[in-house]
Amino acid sequence: MGDHKLVIREAKNSDAEAVIDYLNQIAGESDFLTFGSAEELHLTVEKEEVTLKDYAKRENALYLVAVYNGQIAGTLDFFGGTKKRTAHTGEFGISVRRDYWNKGIGRALIARMIEWSKATGIIRKINLRVRSDNQRAMHLYKSFGFEEEGVIRRDFFINDEFYDSVHMGRFIDGQK
Ligand SMILES: CC(C)(COP(=O)(O)OP(=O)(O)OC[C@H]1O[C@@H](n2cnc3c(N)ncnc32)[C@H](O)[C@@H]1OP(=O)(O)O)[C@@H](O)C(=O)NCCC(=O)NCCS
Repeated sequence: MGDHKLVIREAKNSDAEAVIDYLNQIAGESDFLTFGSAEELHLTVEKEEVTLKDYAKRENALYLVAVYNGQIAGTLDFFGGTKKRTAHTGEFGISVRRDYWNKGIGRALIARMIEWSKATGIIRKINLRVRSDNQRAMHLYKSFGFEEEGVIRRDFFINDEFYDSVHMGRFIDGQK
């Protein structure tokens, strides 16, 4: 990333507005997300502040921002189960601004999540869903040891077409 500084850190309440701006930006940049426009997310700064506060206070949830040149260039959110029987597991979503794809930001976000998940002592499994033709994302997930667990057919409907999603998972055990 040259001389520029990439910082991966947990999101704070005060990031709410910047996170919304970021989501507005990326919504139109990729057909691999579950939303095609940020309007569908019904976001307001107030609601986003509550969301970020909720992530921060939960032991098994994480909202990371990748800040590059002072701007949010990527985010990762992991949300664990809210009941005892599911608290050990959760699903994450990740995105990076198109201008910054293939520069290692996604890799840095996932590495931080895995490190964090081991330190929680709670998380024992991380799940994700990815469109089955999203080769960049699947390559990245596999390189971290995520394995394909199943296919959900017609999981996405984008521009009048159905797409399957692949469910992938990675166990979190000790230092592995
Ligand atoms: C998927 C995404 C988060 C990855 O972030 P990123 O910062 O671009 O990822 P990185 O640069 O860390 O890593 C990308 C890897 O994919 C590889 N790659 C790039 N294009 C590829 C392709 N067409 N097929 C296979 N691998 C590819 C890169 O070489 C790199 O792997 P390497 O580190 O082994 O060389 C980002 O591209 C993105 O936001 N895409 C749109 C939204 C999305 O798909 N989100 C995930 C939904 S499940």
